Amino acid sequence: MIQIKTDKEIILMRESGKILGEILSLTKEFIESGMTTMDVEMNIRRLLRDRRVKSPFLGYKNYPAASCISVNEEVVHGIPSKEKIINAGDIVSVDLGVIYKGYITDATRTFIVPVADEESVKLVNATKEAFFAGAEMAVEGNHLYDISNEIERVIKNNGFSLVREFVSHGVGRVLHEEPFFLNFGKKGTGPELKKNMTLAIEPMVNAGIYNVKIKENGWTAVTSDGRRSAHYENTVVVGIEKSEIITE
Ligand code: MF3
Ligand code: CO
Repeated sequence: MIQIKTDKEIILMRESGKILGEILSLTKEFIESGMTTMDVEMNIRRLLRDRRVKSPFLGYKNYPAASCISVNEEVVHGIPSKEKIINAGDIVSVDLGVIYKGYITDATRTFIVPVADEESVKLVNATKEAFFAGAEMAVEGNHLYDISNEIERVIKNNGFSLVREFVSHGVGRVLHEEPFFLNFGKKGTGPELKKNMTLAIEPMVNAGIYNVKIKENGWTAVTSDGRRSAHYENTVVVGIEKSEIITE
Protein backbone atom coordinates (compact mmCIF):
# COMPACT_ATOMS: atom_id res chain seq x y z
CA MET A 1 0.00 0.00 0.00
CA ILE A 2 1.20 3.49 -0.83
CA GLN A 3 1.18 5.63 2.31
CA ILE A 4 -0.65 8.91 2.21
CA LYS A 5 0.71 11.31 4.81
CA THR A 6 -1.45 13.60 6.90
CA ASP A 7 -0.94 17.36 6.58
CA LYS A 8 0.79 17.27 9.98
CA GLU A 9 3.20 14.63 8.74
CA ILE A 10 3.90 16.72 5.62
CA ILE A 11 4.88 19.63 7.89
CA LEU A 12 7.47 17.39 9.58
CA MET A 13 8.68 16.06 6.22
CA ARG A 14 9.19 19.66 5.06
CA GLU A 15 11.29 20.41 8.15
CA SER A 16 13.32 17.27 7.53
CA GLY A 17 13.77 18.18 3.88
CA LYS A 18 14.77 21.74 4.61
CA ILE A 19 17.61 20.54 6.83
CA LEU A 20 18.71 18.03 4.20
CA GLY A 21 18.64 20.59 1.38
CA GLU A 22 20.70 22.96 3.47
CA ILE A 23 23.33 20.33 4.27
CA LEU A 24 23.66 19.45 0.58
CA SER A 25 24.09 23.15 -0.32
CA LEU A 26 26.84 23.43 2.27
CA THR A 27 28.42 20.27 0.87
CA LYS A 28 28.56 21.87 -2.57
CA GLU A 29 30.52 24.75 -1.00
CA PHE A 30 33.14 22.73 0.84
CA ILE A 31 33.80 19.91 -1.61
CA GLU A 32 37.11 20.32 -3.47
CA SER A 33 39.85 18.38 -5.17
CA GLY A 34 42.37 16.83 -2.81
CA MET A 35 39.77 15.85 -0.23
CA THR A 36 38.99 12.20 0.39
CA THR A 37 35.43 10.95 0.32
CA MET A 38 35.87 10.24 4.05
CA ASP A 39 36.63 13.97 4.57
CA VAL A 40 33.30 14.74 2.93
CA GLU A 41 31.54 12.16 5.15
CA MET A 42 33.09 13.63 8.30
CA ASN A 43 31.99 17.15 7.36
CA ILE A 44 28.49 15.87 6.70
CA ARG A 45 28.41 14.09 10.07
CA ARG A 46 29.27 17.37 11.78
CA LEU A 47 26.54 19.22 9.86
CA LEU A 48 24.03 16.54 10.91
CA ARG A 49 25.17 16.71 14.54
CA ASP A 50 24.98 20.53 14.61
CA ARG A 51 21.34 20.26 13.55
CA ARG A 52 20.58 17.40 15.95
CA VAL A 53 19.42 15.11 13.17
CA LYS A 54 20.54 11.66 12.11
CA SER A 55 21.11 9.92 8.80
CA PRO A 56 18.85 6.95 8.08
CA PHE A 57 21.66 5.33 6.04
CA LEU A 58 24.09 4.64 8.89
CA GLY A 59 23.42 1.06 10.00
CA TYR A 60 20.73 0.47 7.35
CA LYS A 61 21.35 -3.17 6.34
CA ASN A 62 24.73 -2.62 8.05
CA TYR A 63 25.67 0.25 5.71
CA PRO A 64 28.72 1.81 7.47
CA ALA A 65 28.31 5.56 6.79
CA ALA A 66 25.91 8.52 6.97
CA SER A 67 26.29 9.34 3.28
CA CYS A 68 26.95 7.57 0.00
CA ILE A 69 29.65 9.23 -2.08
CA SER A 70 30.00 7.87 -5.60
CA VAL A 71 32.73 9.18 -7.87
CA ASN A 72 32.80 9.02 -11.71
CA GLU A 73 32.04 5.41 -12.77
CA GLU A 74 30.51 4.65 -9.38
CA VAL A 75 26.73 4.70 -9.81
CA VAL A 76 25.40 4.55 -6.24
CA HIS A 77 26.35 3.47 -2.70
CA GLY A 78 29.97 4.60 -2.77
CA ILE A 79 31.27 4.01 0.76
CA PRO A 80 33.28 6.98 2.08
CA SER A 81 36.94 6.05 2.27
CA LYS A 82 40.20 7.60 3.45
CA GLU A 83 41.85 6.15 0.35
CA LYS A 84 39.50 7.66 -2.21
CA ILE A 85 40.78 11.07 -3.26
CA ILE A 86 38.59 13.52 -5.17
CA ASN A 87 40.43 14.93 -8.18
CA ALA A 88 39.88 17.92 -10.45
CA GLY A 89 37.54 16.92 -13.27
CA ASP A 90 35.68 14.31 -11.20
CA ILE A 91 31.94 14.12 -10.79
CA VAL A 92 30.94 13.32 -7.22
CA SER A 93 27.45 12.18 -6.21
CA VAL A 94 26.55 12.81 -2.59
CA ASP A 95 23.47 10.89 -1.47
CA LEU A 96 22.15 11.74 2.00
CA GLY A 97 19.10 11.21 4.15
CA VAL A 98 17.83 13.00 7.25
CA ILE A 99 15.62 11.73 10.06
CA TYR A 100 13.83 14.57 11.84
CA LYS A 101 11.19 13.78 14.50
CA GLY A 102 10.80 10.34 12.92
CA TYR A 103 10.39 11.59 9.35
CA ILE A 104 12.88 10.75 6.65
CA THR A 105 13.82 12.67 3.53
CA ASP A 106 16.30 11.51 0.90
CA ALA A 107 18.24 13.52 -1.71
CA THR A 108 21.30 13.39 -3.95
CA ARG A 109 23.37 15.93 -5.85
CA THR A 110 26.11 15.23 -8.37
CA PHE A 111 28.81 17.86 -8.00
CA ILE A 112 31.27 18.71 -10.74
CA VAL A 113 34.82 19.32 -9.49
CA PRO A 114 36.25 21.83 -12.00
CA VAL A 115 37.20 21.40 -14.71
CA ALA A 116 35.27 18.38 -16.02
CA ASP A 117 35.06 17.29 -19.66
CA GLU A 118 32.10 18.30 -21.80
CA GLU A 119 30.40 14.91 -21.70
CA SER A 120 30.42 14.85 -17.88
CA VAL A 121 28.85 18.30 -17.72
CA LYS A 122 26.17 17.22 -20.18
CA LEU A 123 25.54 14.02 -18.20
CA VAL A 124 25.15 15.86 -14.89
CA ASN A 125 22.88 18.51 -16.41
CA ALA A 126 20.70 15.97 -18.22
CA THR A 127 20.25 13.95 -15.02
CA LYS A 128 19.14 17.05 -13.13
CA GLU A 129 16.84 18.12 -15.96
CA ALA A 130 15.31 14.62 -16.08
CA PHE A 131 14.61 14.77 -12.35
CA PHE A 132 12.76 18.09 -12.68
CA ALA A 133 10.76 16.91 -15.69
CA GLY A 134 9.74 13.78 -13.77
CA ALA A 135 9.00 15.60 -10.53
CA GLU A 136 6.60 17.96 -12.32
CA MET A 137 4.36 14.99 -12.99
CA ALA A 138 3.90 14.27 -9.26
CA VAL A 139 0.38 15.71 -9.27
CA GLU A 140 -2.84 14.11 -8.07
CA GLY A 141 -4.63 12.23 -10.85
CA ASN A 142 -1.47 11.51 -12.82
CA HIS A 143 -0.10 7.98 -12.91
CA LEU A 144 3.12 6.91 -11.23
CA TYR A 145 4.90 6.00 -14.45
CA ASP A 146 4.14 9.43 -15.92
CA ILE A 147 7.06 10.48 -13.71
CA SER A 148 9.23 7.66 -15.08
CA ASN A 149 8.21 8.43 -18.64
CA GLU A 150 9.27 12.08 -18.39
CA ILE A 151 12.66 11.08 -16.95
CA GLU A 152 13.08 8.58 -19.79
CA ARG A 153 12.17 11.17 -22.43
CA VAL A 154 14.85 13.63 -21.28
CA ILE A 155 17.55 10.98 -20.95
CA LYS A 156 16.80 9.45 -24.36
CA ASN A 157 16.96 12.90 -25.95
CA ASN A 158 20.44 13.28 -24.53
CA GLY A 159 21.60 9.85 -25.70
CA PHE A 160 22.37 8.52 -22.20
CA SER A 161 20.99 5.43 -20.46
CA LEU A 162 18.94 4.89 -17.32
CA VAL A 163 20.08 2.42 -14.68
CA ARG A 164 17.63 -0.48 -14.27
CA GLU A 165 18.93 -2.19 -11.13
CA PHE A 166 17.99 0.66 -8.77
CA VAL A 167 14.68 2.42 -8.44
CA SER A 168 12.94 5.48 -7.09
CA HIS A 169 10.77 4.90 -4.02
CA GLY A 170 8.29 6.11 -1.44
CA VAL A 171 9.81 7.65 1.69
CA GLY A 172 8.52 8.81 5.07
CA ARG A 173 8.58 6.96 8.35
CA VAL A 174 10.95 4.52 6.68
CA LEU A 175 13.66 5.11 4.08
CA HIS A 176 12.21 2.77 1.48
CA GLU A 177 8.46 2.31 1.28
CA GLU A 178 5.99 1.69 -1.51
CA PRO A 179 5.87 2.48 -4.33
CA PHE A 180 9.13 1.26 -5.84
CA PHE A 181 9.41 2.38 -9.46
CA LEU A 182 11.82 2.33 -12.37
CA ASN A 183 13.03 5.62 -13.80
CA PHE A 184 11.54 4.81 -17.19
CA GLY A 185 8.09 3.56 -18.18
CA LYS A 186 4.88 3.99 -20.08
CA LYS A 187 2.81 7.12 -19.75
CA GLY A 188 -0.66 6.68 -18.20
CA THR A 189 0.26 3.48 -16.36
CA GLY A 190 0.96 2.59 -12.76
CA PRO A 191 -1.01 3.54 -9.64
CA GLU A 192 -2.85 6.83 -9.58
CA LEU A 193 -1.09 9.53 -7.59
CA LYS A 194 -2.84 11.08 -4.59
CA LYS A 195 -2.17 14.26 -2.65
CA ASN A 196 0.39 13.81 0.16
CA MET A 197 2.13 10.78 -1.24
CA THR A 198 5.87 11.35 -0.66
CA LEU A 199 8.35 10.08 -3.23
CA ALA A 200 12.14 10.01 -3.49
CA ILE A 201 12.56 10.43 -7.23
CA GLU A 202 16.11 9.51 -8.18
CA PRO A 203 17.27 9.00 -11.76
CA MET A 204 20.67 7.32 -12.05
CA VAL A 205 22.08 7.91 -15.50
CA ASN A 206 25.04 6.31 -17.27
CA ALA A 207 27.01 7.93 -20.06
CA GLY A 208 27.38 4.51 -21.76
CA ILE A 209 25.46 1.26 -21.31
CA TYR A 210 22.94 0.89 -18.48
CA ASN A 211 24.52 -2.21 -16.97
CA VAL A 212 26.12 -2.04 -13.55
CA LYS A 213 28.11 -4.42 -11.37
CA ILE A 214 28.64 -4.51 -7.62
CA LYS A 215 32.13 -4.08 -6.13
CA GLU A 216 33.70 -6.51 -3.66
CA ASN A 217 32.50 -4.39 -0.73
CA GLY A 218 29.01 -5.68 -1.50
CA TRP A 219 27.56 -2.17 -1.80
CA THR A 220 29.07 0.03 -4.44
CA ALA A 221 27.59 -0.20 -7.92
CA VAL A 222 29.85 0.79 -10.83
CA THR A 223 29.12 0.98 -14.54
CA SER A 224 30.01 -2.21 -16.42
CA ASP A 225 31.75 -0.24 -19.16
CA GLY A 226 33.69 2.02 -16.76
CA ARG A 227 32.11 5.18 -18.15
CA ARG A 228 30.68 7.82 -15.83
CA SER A 229 27.33 7.92 -14.06
CA ALA A 230 25.32 10.77 -12.49
CA HIS A 231 22.52 10.78 -9.92
CA TYR A 232 20.02 13.43 -8.86
CA GLU A 233 17.36 12.96 -6.20
CA ASN A 234 14.86 14.90 -4.15
CA THR A 235 11.97 14.04 -1.90
CA VAL A 236 8.76 15.23 -3.54
CA VAL A 237 5.23 15.66 -2.18
CA VAL A 238 2.36 14.96 -4.57
CA GLY A 239 0.05 18.00 -4.72
CA ILE A 240 -3.35 18.81 -6.19
CA GLU A 241 -2.17 21.38 -8.69
CA LYS A 242 1.58 21.00 -8.54
CA SER A 243 4.27 18.87 -6.96
CA GLU A 244 6.37 20.20 -4.13
CA ILE A 245 10.09 19.48 -3.91
CA ILE A 246 10.97 19.60 -0.22
CA THR A 247 14.74 18.92 -0.28
CA GLU A 248 16.03 21.61 -2.62
N1 MF3 B 1 19.25 7.16 -1.56
C1 MF3 B 1 19.70 5.79 -1.48
C2 MF3 B 1 18.53 4.87 -1.63
O1 MF3 B 1 17.41 5.32 -1.63
C3 MF3 B 1 20.47 5.59 -0.27
C4 MF3 B 1 20.42 4.30 0.41
S1 MF3 B 1 21.94 3.98 1.03
C5 MF3 B 1 21.78 2.89 2.29
O2 MF3 B 1 18.68 3.68 -1.81
F1 MF3 B 1 22.89 2.74 2.78
F2 MF3 B 1 20.99 3.38 3.17
F3 MF3 B 1 21.27 1.79 1.82
CO1 CO C 1 16.65 7.13 -2.34
